[in-house]
Amino acid sequence: MNVLLMGPPGAGKGTQADLIKDRYPIPHISTGDMFREAVSTGTELGKEAKKYMDSGKLVPDEVTIGIVQERLAQDDCKEGFLLDGFPRTVKQAEALDQVLAKLGKKVEAAINITVPEDILYERMSGRISCKDCKTVYHLKFNPPAKAGICDKCGGELIQRSDDQGDTVKRRLEVYAEQTNPLIEYYEKQGVLNDIDGNRDSQAVFADIVKVMESL
Ligand code: AP5
Ligand code: MG
Repeated sequence: MNVLLMGPPGAGKGTQADLIKDRYPIPHISTGDMFREAVSTGTELGKEAKKYMDSGKLVPDEVTIGIVQERLAQDDCKEGFLLDGFPRTVKQAEALDQVLAKLGKKVEAAINITVPEDILYERMSGRISCKDCKTVYHLKFNPPAKAGICDKCGGELIQRSDDQGDTVKRRLEVYAEQTNPLIEYYEKQGVLNDIDGNRDSQAVFADIVKVMESL
């Protein structure tokens, strides 16, 4: 199963990825999580990525394509993968097709989660996530059992720095300009699946399972 999770910031990609990986034995590869990990450990990649992330811009394609290429070559991706937040530009999508072709693979499904913009703002402003295992919560829609503590691993729950102020607006603009064209890209490949994300997360997940089972 070689699957992409697409959709604007706050659409629920990470939330659905958590549900998918509990059911299907494929690794969840989130470029956003990889960059945040690099930022928190203070690597050179993290220092470079932070400049772009905090201003709501995309990290340059050459940096992003490089880390995904390395990750996809690892053993746990042999039976498939779930990419979350990659590709995000046509250049990244073309690079992904080339990398996969060399491995004798291709994208089998691009799951595009759609949500109206006002709801996206509400979701991002209330999001908190685990510093350690990255599980995502929402103060109103999906609160943890104990305030500030992850139900799964007991880690500290924190707000993302890019969920604040003007950065959210910029991220949505960048999505519209640079990532929206990918919908047509995958439609042409015949692998696009639009899913209404403005529903309860279990209802969204049930539709994603239908797509996964059809592969
Ligand atoms: P990234 O981490 O990928 O962020 P994003 O795409 O902006 O998406 P989010 O993680 O904000 O949203 P999500 O769809 O995962 O929603 P979630 O499930 O958390 O990227 C961050 C940055 O890294 C980028 O801006 C860029 O700088 C850089 N980057 C990453 N990838 C890159 C790439 N390929 N190229 C270049 N740069 C890249 O849900 C949101 C909230 O809503 C949560 O609180 C959740 O609990 C709640 N929620 C979810 N589903 C529901 C539901 N059905 N009902 C009610 N609430 C819900
Ligand atoms: Mg996410």
